[in-house]
Amino acid sequence: MSILVLNGPNLNLLGTREPGIYGSTTLAEIEAMCRALGAELGHDIAFVQSNHEGALVDALHAARTVHDGVIINAGAYTHTSVALRDAISATGLKAIELHLSNTHARESFRHVSLIAPVCVGVIQGFGPDSYLLALRAMAGILARAST
Ligand code: DQA
Repeated sequence: MSILVLNGPNLNLLGTREPGIYGSTTLAEIEAMCRALGAELGHDIAFVQSNHEGALVDALHAARTVHDGVIINAGAYTHTSVALRDAISATGLKAIELHLSNTHARESFRHVSLIAPVCVGVIQGFGPDSYLLALRAMAGILARAST
């Protein structure tokens, strides 16, 4: 099966962006980790990043007929975007929200997620491992859905 890993704004700067919060692993290194785990789990991985809300909505629409599930780090749009929430809902894709940092241990405006209610679950606070945990969780969801 095929899993889309969708990344939102400013995640292209991982590695140099606020390393005290996000660590020093780059997005390219996270992509390589996801591809390696995807191969181990027997799933194809598509990895996309955009700083633009509409492009993320377009990626979700395109995923509808191509991918079986999406794991999404929507970055700051997590806390603001009704459009992303509606796109996840409209596509009917199984989605997992993830974050590198524990948003509940940060500023109060990060405590609210507009997309969590339309996701199967949320994984956050484990740095790059959040991606791997989310992929394993999605593999379980897809396995259960196909039996
Ligand atoms: C983030 C958390 C968000 O609050 C923030 O806006 C990001 C990164 C994370 O992965 O920890 O851009 O999604």
